[in-house]
Amino acid sequence: MRLIIFGPPGAGKGTQAGLLEERQDLVQISTGDIIREAMKNETPVGKEAKSYVESGELVPDEVVRKLAENAIADEDYDDVVLDGYPRTTQQAEWLTTFMEEHDIAIDAVLSLEVPDDVIVERLSRRRVHEETGETYHLDHDPPPEDVDSDLIVQREDDQPETVRTRLSVYREETQPLEDYYAERDLLVSIDGQGDIDEVYSRIESALDTRVAPPEA
Ligand code: AP5
Ligand code: MG
Repeated sequence: MRLIIFGPPGAGKGTQAGLLEERQDLVQISTGDIIREAMKNETPVGKEAKSYVESGELVPDEVVRKLAENAIADEDYDDVVLDGYPRTTQQAEWLTTFMEEHDIAIDAVLSLEVPDDVIVERLSRRRVHEETGETYHLDHDPPPEDVDSDLIVQREDDQPETVRTRLSVYREETQPLEDYYAERDLLVSIDGQGDIDEVYSRIESALDTRVAPPEA
């Protein structure tokens, strides 16, 4: 099964992609995680990406290609969930071409719908583990007590000003992809409100009706 999980910043893409990895045995490919790892390791590409990520802008396509597109090409792309990719028409077109060249297809684009006020609340209360990248929410999914609290930090791009920029970049550059995938009959809207398991159940029901079981 090949899925794209789509939606605004803080919609719960990473949370739900993590559950799909655990429960459906998919490989989660998060371009945000790949980029943050490159930044942490201070690779040339990571250094190039840093100023964009920290200001809430999209990393230019040619930089993303080096990092993310290689990861997609390298993975066993039979069972994947793409989290945070594609985000521009150019990226979507690259992916469509890549899929066609390999004679494979995306099964569904799950679009998580969450209003802006909920997004702002989720991102202001999100915390991450500095070393593992594990994501928490102070109220809905708090870090376990045995985790060293000094390692629990806020993402640089979760400052309110940067969140506003990310939301407007999303509206301008990424949201138009809803039409791109609706035209290809791949877009599935999922209500992203409610608790984490409730949202996952909606995804599961959508997949039951959308994705045909593997041939016997
Ligand atoms: P990326 O890391 O992908 O950030 P994003 O798209 O802004 O999304 P987030 O990771 O912030 O949110 P999410 O939807 O994963 O939500 P989460 O599950 O954490 O990208 C970061 C940056 O990298 C971009 O700004 C850009 O610069 C660059 N980049 C990445 N990909 C790129 C690309 N393809 N092209 C160019 N540039 C790219 O949930 C949020 C919080 O809510 C958490 O605390 C979570 O615990 C909580 N939560 C989740 N679900 C629920 C629920 N149902 N109820 C209550 N709380 C919940
Ligand atoms: Mg994420």
